[in-house]
Amino acid sequence: MSAPTNTPFYTPPRFSATFDQHSIAEIQRAAATGIYDIRGAGTKRRVPHFDDLLFLGASISRYPLEGYREKCGTNVVLGTRFAKKPIELKIPVTIAGMSFGALSGPAKEALGRGATAMGTSTTTGDGGMTPEERGHSQILVYQYLPSRYGMNPNDLRKADAIEVVVGQGAKPGGGGMLLGQKISDRVAKMRNLPKGIDQRSACRHPDWTGPDDLTIKIQELREITNWEKPIYVKVGATRPYYDTALAVKSGADVVVLDGMQGGTAATQDVFIEHVGLPILAAIRPAVKALQDLDMHRKVQLIVSGGIRNGADVAKALALGADAVAIGTAALIALGDNDPKWEEEYKKLGTTAGAYDDWHEGRDPAGITTQDPELAARLDPVKAGHRLANYLAVLTMEAQIIARACGKSHLHNLEPEDLVALTVESAAMAGVPLAGTSWIPGQGGGY
Ligand SMILES: Cc1cc2nc3c(=O)[nH]c(=O)nc-3n(C[C@H](O)[C@H](O)[C@H](O)COP(=O)(O)O)c2cc1C
Repeated sequence: MSAPTNTPFYTPPRFSATFDQHSIAEIQRAAATGIYDIRGAGTKRRVPHFDDLLFLGASISRYPLEGYREKCGTNVVLGTRFAKKPIELKIPVTIAGMSFGALSGPAKEALGRGATAMGTSTTTGDGGMTPEERGHSQILVYQYLPSRYGMNPNDLRKADAIEVVVGQGAKPGGGGMLLGQKISDRVAKMRNLPKGIDQRSACRHPDWTGPDDLTIKIQELREITNWEKPIYVKVGATRPYYDTALAVKSGADVVVLDGMQGGTAATQDVFIEHVGLPILAAIRPAVKALQDLDMHRKVQLIVSGGIRNGADVAKALALGADAVAIGTAALIALGDNDPKWEEEYKKLGTTAGAYDDWHEGRDPAGITTQDPELAARLDPVKAGHRLANYLAVLTMEAQIIARACGKSHLHNLEPEDLVALTVESAAMAGVPLAGTSWIPGQGGGY
């Protein structure tokens, strides 16, 4: 912009860091409509994350492995504590629970196809199990949620593992939402709800109030399934040390810990951005709880929330997780936010890469919708291939890093392989600040 001619100096308009353009637009939107913002996806602001950590790699004191002849294992066995039939995943990356309802039928099928091609599991969600999903998922985890939508003992028995959902990273303490636009005939029937009416799920389980009742509930689930299936307990990252200890005390085989970056199909923006911990801050306390109970690697830990690439996977495992789960990244691999739909994103007032109105059911890519025409745009076979390719890359990238650190299995990565770029991330991850031997925050309790 050129300077006005009658002033000697030009001062460009200055935006406030506090009242930035997004905050101003939100105030204006709230003032005009009187309703809060609901959206999908995870937190959009930057919070400490795996990018704040670096691997050291091999040197004179560490010996790397040769990629072309020395193996680096990737498998993980889940449910070794009590289940008669633990499950083995070929890669330590599983597909997180996402409901039929939030996602279209073809999207659920594609997740099953992609996961199965790579020897890993996928997970149902707040809406029950569909035959297509069971049919296309070699290993299927069945979610048992506060809403109990679609819950029945037959489906529990058809599953390979059961995940008791206490909370989710995007909205710990909150229940699910599925707006009327997405309650089609089929979704309504599965959830036993009227068609087209907004649905807000319960935020807590109706039949337990604490760990003692949860113990009884887990025993019931084991009896129904003949003690065969691994039982996971999923929590949003809030008080990870105590939640992990209580899940173990309640009899969980696997703890699933979901950080605040974790995606959701729909919730209030204020919830997504302001409640819960980044996953980086939650892994070490959870691992410490397992170690204090002598349960690390006996009760497995799956972590999620913002996992995007093999480096994220390797860092999560190095901090002590046994596996990671992905939601948002899996949807992107299927075709979510693909620039090929840019014209349609523009019509929805957004752009490829920023589309997050997953609750509205108008997804041009056919993934977060129940509209039959939009859903038909997603070819589950091709989308499943894309997901399998992506999972293969995640695994190979993690192996590249592990070999460079001299590790013959991804699970041999350890905190000693890492340093942190910031004081905050060093304190949260419990690793030294790069270039120092200083681990801030040591000696504090949880
Ligand atoms: C579209 C969508 C639907 C979801 N539905 C559920 C659900 O039904 N139950 C649940 O426990 N979590 C649900 N989640 C959360 C995921 O299971 C997972 O915790 C989260 O996506 C992981 O973070 P990431 O998306 O950054 O990978 C959903 C997430 C998305 C993106």
